[in-house]
Amino acid sequence: MINFNALKTRAAAAKPIVAQLEDSKRVPDFSIVQDGLLFDYSKTTIDRDSRDLLLGLLETAGVAAKRDAMFGGTAINETEGRAVLHTALRNLNAGPIVVDGEDIMPSILETLAAMEAFAADVRTGAYQGQGGTITDVINIGIGGSDLGPVMAVRALSPYHDGPRCHFVSNIDPGDVAEVLKNCDPTRTLVIVASKTFTTIETMTNARTVREWMAKSVSDPAAQFAAISSDLDKTAEFGIAAERVFGFGNYVGGRYSVWGPIGLSVMLAVGAAHFRDFLAGGAAMDQHFRDAPWQENLPAMLALVGLWHSHACDYATRAVLPYDNRLGRLPAYFQQLEMESNGKGVSMDGAPLPFHSGAVVWGEPGTNGQHAFYQLIHQGTRVIPCEFMIAARAHEPDLQYQQELLIANCLAQSKALMEGRGMDVARKIAASKGFTGDECERQASHRVFQGNRPSVTLAYEMMTPFVLGQIIALYEHRVFVEGVVLGINSFDQWGVELGKELATGLEPVVTGRQSTDGQDASTTALVDFLRGKGA
Ligand code: F6P
Repeated sequence: MINFNALKTRAAAAKPIVAQLEDSKRVPDFSIVQDGLLFDYSKTTIDRDSRDLLLGLLETAGVAAKRDAMFGGTAINETEGRAVLHTALRNLNAGPIVVDGEDIMPSILETLAAMEAFAADVRTGAYQGQGGTITDVINIGIGGSDLGPVMAVRALSPYHDGPRCHFVSNIDPGDVAEVLKNCDPTRTLVIVASKTFTTIETMTNARTVREWMAKSVSDPAAQFAAISSDLDKTAEFGIAAERVFGFGNYVGGRYSVWGPIGLSVMLAVGAAHFRDFLAGGAAMDQHFRDAPWQENLPAMLALVGLWHSHACDYATRAVLPYDNRLGRLPAYFQQLEMESNGKGVSMDGAPLPFHSGAVVWGEPGTNGQHAFYQLIHQGTRVIPCEFMIAARAHEPDLQYQQELLIANCLAQSKALMEGRGMDVARKIAASKGFTGDECERQASHRVFQGNRPSVTLAYEMMTPFVLGQIIALYEHRVFVEGVVLGINSFDQWGVELGKELATGLEPVVTGRQSTDGQDASTTALVDFLRGKGA
């Protein structure tokens, strides 16, 4: 059984980061370079002894055996009786993977080839809408059927040479309305992306878009494609089998961008770049399987995460990409990490004896610096930060701006670590003309505690390969944290209750049913909203 007490004791007594960095071997020893990615965790309070304790967690929890079981196709998602094989979607060169006695690779490769053929037809104009070549693609999906593609299309915009891509996810009518405003129905391809093909937001939006298209297009279904693991339901919706791309139930929604759910990414950047993205993920898989734990990037990122969440008791962590095109990455990681590791019981059903996964949030730098960093620097809660930064921009003419971006990123982790003591703050206040008690008061507002931890992930440039590496890195990090915590990272029962209640409330909100039996607060809210237009 995992016990974090020894780690908590070490964390409470840990030497400040600045002092730890006096060890000349610390930086090489507390960083990993893998396939062009540098992971630096030297700006944390972890020392060699605490790292040994952390590494011991991997042995106690049996992470190696669980990892091999995952890659081997064992049904490690025990509450749903499913294998966890999103890794198979990027396993293009590494041979068979057998699930329930059947090699799943031929069907994965066949679907990839079908996606590539379709994407090529759309991109070259061989496949047309009623009004001609496709200019716009609307991906309708939510959660994993949206966040992966939306994040990747934006991240890879320097490679985008296909049709414009739009994303509709929210049931909020404003979401779909804003997208439709900018599309010509006769030259738009609609992708309905839903693993289950039952999600109310997605299916409602799909019907709305079909009605919008039917006003201008004689056969709207001909401009629809579907991505799902329920092929009966896609047929019921009227989408021809040749434009339906399926995937197995061994791929969880939040892990699905590597397969057909990534179709909009492929349409945007082309099949070759999509394959580079898969290759980046596959390279990280190989590293995760082969590298000894101390040199293993996902394992060490997970252990740093556990140190902060379970030894230091920091409740949240911030993902701070210094790359504006990674603007949706924090939201993507939020789903990946919080849907996976936000669980209340261990695999055997017993209440967790410690907290589950950390709260994940963030925004790109430098924008965040002018918004919420104040609390990270001087607030009373410690928020470990995960910085990401490229050496090179996609705009060689603007490399100086990239260098300013780098300077800002490095300045933040340095400021968090070093802080500013009262002596310096006093001098600053005095230089502004403050004296006596007022100088003390002014100085105290200018003190930064420092010793605030961060890690930095650095790479040459944000390419499809690097994006693949980083996404797979975080997937495996979440896996390792989940195994150590003893939870099932691959189900998501926590979102079901809200879905059920929304379905039950729909007739009440639309007025087909009375509010009888609802709680007093919900009744009052329904009455107010119905009185105002619902
Ligand atoms: O919110 C729960 C969830 O099941 C996510 O895990 C998933 O990514 C999302 O809903 C969408 O589901 P589907 O792809 O089946 O429409």
